[in-house]
Amino acid sequence: PEGKLQLVQRHVRAFPDFPKKGILFRDICPILKSPAALTAVTDLFEEHVRSHQLQVDLIVACAGLDARGFLFGPLLAQRLGVGFVLVRKKGKLPGATVSVAYDLEYGSAEVEIQEDAVAPGQKVLIIDDLLATGERQQSGTELQQKVEQADIQGCMVVIELRDLKGADRLKPHNIFSLLQY
Ligand code: PRP
Ligand code: HPA
Repeated sequence: PEGKLQLVQRHVRAFPDFPKKGILFRDICPILKSPAALTAVTDLFEEHVRSHQLQVDLIVACAGLDARGFLFGPLLAQRLGVGFVLVRKKGKLPGATVSVAYDLEYGSAEVEIQEDAVAPGQKVLIIDDLLATGERQQSGTELQQKVEQADIQGCMVVIELRDLKGADRLKPHNIFSLLQY
């Protein structure tokens, strides 16, 4: 029978020259359309957390990166029995927030989090769909660390684009990816 990873892999499509010429865009929409593939992603994330001695008992939240981290983060958070917090693009969150600016593979952005989202020292997992240059994950870890002083247990993504060396940028944080291209 087909393994969970093969199932997930079969539900990723590649689109050349989107959103700009020269970018080979990995599309995760087919995963979301398949209940089995989406369950497999969540299973694999959960298995990783539980098998790597990440201190699940102490993790208070999965921090999802806007926008596609929101698709996977809450599912994992529910499995782990922890909360989910939003790292949003600037200007979307009410109340006191802190923000960080960063560049993307194509474009630039600024993200922010509510000041009270995570208490200092609390353990969080950062979740997104894809790691490219790592700029967004880095902004997520910076937000969590510098402002929240959260204890980041790892960064989890469905897809890692290895050529862009995002994992190097994010050291010493551990990146866990299901698929590598
Ligand atoms: C993509 C992707 C990651 C980020 C990865 O989001 O979902 O969040 O870029 O790139 P990086 O590793 O170079 O930071 P995108 O900016 O395309 O927009 P979206 O969140 O609005 O979908
Ligand atoms: N696919 C989806 N999102 C992305 C990509 C990609 O190839 N590169 C940067 N963000």
